Amino acid sequence: MKKNKVAVLIGTRPGIIKMAPIVHELDRQNIPRLIIHTGQHYSLNMDKDIMRDVGLDKADHQITRPDDCISHAEQTAYMLVKIEEILLEQKPDVLLVCGDANTNLAGALAARKIHVKVGHVEAGLRSFDWRMPEEHNRIIIDHISEYLFAPTSLSREHLVRDGVRGDIFVVGNTIVDATLEHARIARETQAPFVLEMTGGQPFCLLTLHREENVDNNAVVSGIISSLEHIANVSSKQIIFPLHPRTKKRFEEFGLFAKISGIKGLKIVEPLGYLNFIAMLEKASAVFTDSGGIQEESCILQVPCLTLRTSTERPETIDVGANRLAGTDPEKIISVFNEMMSEKSEKKWPNPYGDGQTSRRIVETCLFGKPKDEL
Ligand code: UD1
Ligand code: UDP
Repeated sequence: MKKNKVAVLIGTRPGIIKMAPIVHELDRQNIPRLIIHTGQHYSLNMDKDIMRDVGLDKADHQITRPDDCISHAEQTAYMLVKIEEILLEQKPDVLLVCGDANTNLAGALAARKIHVKVGHVEAGLRSFDWRMPEEHNRIIIDHISEYLFAPTSLSREHLVRDGVRGDIFVVGNTIVDATLEHARIARETQAPFVLEMTGGQPFCLLTLHREENVDNNAVVSGIISSLEHIANVSSKQIIFPLHPRTKKRFEEFGLFAKISGIKGLKIVEPLGYLNFIAMLEKASAVFTDSGGIQEESCILQVPCLTLRTSTERPETIDVGANRLAGTDPEKIISVFNEMMSEKSEKKWPNPYGDGQTSRRIVETCLFGKPKDEL
């Protein structure tokens, strides 16, 4: 029997991390596959370092990002054109896209128009925050996909309610496959890195990159002032791997020198995936506006404060792993105090599945549906 050829689209840091388990599963089952990289993320520490850590070689097709590509339209348009060229030449049966970045919108649209089946990994997430480019992207992708890989029954409900045309399968999230495997490796290999970073002292992690937060001087300054206060009074160091978007905004707003000088707040370059997971597992808490980190902290039993007013990962809140701390400094401080005063031995279940998500997705690419669902 001829096996379907599967194209896997990557382009951003979280996409690389969440697609890697699928690529490895395709290889385990000896299924013809190709990796297309859009070049949306291109800095070494957002791209190649992450690919190395998750065991991906270079992409089969690397799209080069034009230097002057700054707006959503330019970015999405160049990827759309280039992805179509590759799909027309390579003729895969299915294109898998993961999540809600512009990379995935471009990929899904390119494939849809030339009748390549689209599989949306992480389908059905909704923040109901219409300011977010990710919310527009994920809704459009869901509506033009053949296969909708919903992580949970809640994401399935969103898809049913929206009346999508494709087939919906509740399969979990590949972040579980990735986190379980890499946390195991990180425990064995990255302890010296954690010690070097923290000096063995208690610490929290901070990541910020959401457009609605970091592109707004008042919002991002308020968040930083709350973290400065927390670092002072809690005597926990706050380690802040700085996303390139955020670094640019700090520079544009003239905030960089001031923020780098805050005592107790340690700014570092974006970390490799193994280093990040090793740090996360040892952190007292994580402050973040990242989607993936809300999931990983839930899986690794680390309390998470989401620095947003909404989340498309409410399952993490329902199980008690995550709180919406918003962006108001007083609220962030009070939510932190509340979380830290609770019993530290508290455990919660992981709502994103059993680490078998990539197998279910690959089965769907081959047979039109997975052998089992959650
Ligand atoms: C993108 C996604 C977001 C995702 C995030 C993951 C969209 C609309 N946004 O946001 O959903 O959560 O990736 O990190 O697709 N830059 C670099 N080096 C890089 C990458 C970016 O310097 O490797 C700089 C560039 O100047 C770029 C800016 O950061 O203009 C923003 O990058 P972009 O890919 O447009 O959006 P992200 O904020 O990374
Ligand atoms: N991550 C990393 N190094 C860092 C910060 C994050 O490897 O310094 C990983 C993190 O473990 C998670 C992913 O990057 O898997 C999240 O990416 P990001 O926050 O950029 O995007 P989002 O998930 O919000 O789309």
